[in-house]
Amino acid sequence: MTTRRLALALVALLSSCADEEAPPAAPGGDPTTLAVIEDMNPAPDVLEVNLEARASMHTYGSNPPTPVWAYNGAVPGPLLSARVGDRLVARFTNRLPEPTTIHWHGIRLPADMDGSPMVRPPILPGDSYRYEFTLKDPGLYWFHPHVRSDIQVQRGLYGALLVRGPGEPESDDERILMLDDVRLKADGSLAEFLDDRSKMMGREGNTLLINGAVTPTLRFRPGALVRLRLVNTANGRFFHLRLPGLSWRVLGSDGGFFPEPYDAERVLITPGERYDLMVRMPSTAGAIDLLNEPYERGHESAHDPVMKVATFLVEGAPVERELPLPGSFSAPEALAPREPTFSLRFNEEFLPDGELRFTVNGKAHPDVPMTMVERDSIHAFDVINDSDMDHPFHLHGFFFQVLARNGAPEPPARLLNKDTILLPAKQSLRLISRFDEPGMWMYHCHILEHAELGMMGEIHVH
Ligand code: C2O
Ligand code: CU
Repeated sequence: MTTRRLALALVALLSSCADEEAPPAAPGGDPTTLAVIEDMNPAPDVLEVNLEARASMHTYGSNPPTPVWAYNGAVPGPLLSARVGDRLVARFTNRLPEPTTIHWHGIRLPADMDGSPMVRPPILPGDSYRYEFTLKDPGLYWFHPHVRSDIQVQRGLYGALLVRGPGEPESDDERILMLDDVRLKADGSLAEFLDDRSKMMGREGNTLLINGAVTPTLRFRPGALVRLRLVNTANGRFFHLRLPGLSWRVLGSDGGFFPEPYDAERVLITPGERYDLMVRMPSTAGAIDLLNEPYERGHESAHDPVMKVATFLVEGAPVERELPLPGSFSAPEALAPREPTFSLRFNEEFLPDGELRFTVNGKAHPDVPMTMVERDSIHAFDVINDSDMDHPFHLHGFFFQVLARNGAPEPPARLLNKDTILLPAKQSLRLISRFDEPGMWMYHCHILEHAELGMMGEIHVH
């Protein structure tokens, strides 16, 4: 912690994209500050960074220091901030005692840059790899390993990749909040074991985190219009967030904005998903707890307690003028509906020896039959959940749009390019994607224990 180069996440934003789109800076002393990374390339449209995965120490709140694995020694890893059209060059070195990769979650890129161990072999201890690709789409993305991801992500390997676009809405304050949880033992170390419930539900921690901080206090000015860009990086926990007395304006998720943003008291963010929210702070000083409320995702998970994630402290001089909440955004190009050409059925089963496994079309990865589609084709497909619990479905390399949920057409006001979506128990989604990049692309449940226990497959674009 002491030698880490820390500065405000928003200072990082300002320095890497010094233009009028940069958001205003936040007040100092914020425990949710993300680590800064140095851009090694003077070209304004190239972000070139050195990333290293290595063992480090991180202190979670008032607990004893925890041995972690981290990018450049920081949990979360450093914020990578760029603009649409920029090229990202990440010179990566693996200083872990085991193989790893970096997967750039949500980014449309060439298959050999995707970090999938099915496309190219993982990076061995001591080895390096140069990831390089163009950032085509605005949004908040994130990066994490795709080898033993349940272990490696849990140990602290994850970071945010922000891609700013031309049409960013105006706000008084903007924060990136990486939601996570860890299960800490009394000595500060991470509980490594997987009990039966962790296998079934995905590992849930006893300590909730925002940007690696435990129940931090975030400071805002009275009346401020605050934009929160959230990503759920937890292995299994769903975040169901509420700010009592305030309401969220839901701007968008994953790779864009809703044509018609909507207001909600609670927002559910499942593992891997991002949400882009705005909230107006009260005009008078005070404190509001950000709460994570229970959500029934199967196996009686609704009985979990309400947990505090952070305190929002409203203080200081009120903002001078009230910025308006965004009311609409231009819609993304809608892919024309068509009949589905394949379906992916998700299930859980106990083998005769009592072992639990998670399946796609009756098989556990790597035995799931590959789906073949032609390059540049557009396919509708069904994802169906036959199991008794929810699974967040994630597709690599492409966005999808929702055509229907359980047969009911998705309203045009909710048209959105997504890469991760909740597939609730016993329900189905009809999705549509343009498969415009050749190669082998993974899809899986983003509850990382489920993915590692078989709920994963590949689409081969040829
Ligand atoms: Cu964020 Cu294949 O995962
Ligand atoms: Cu799952």
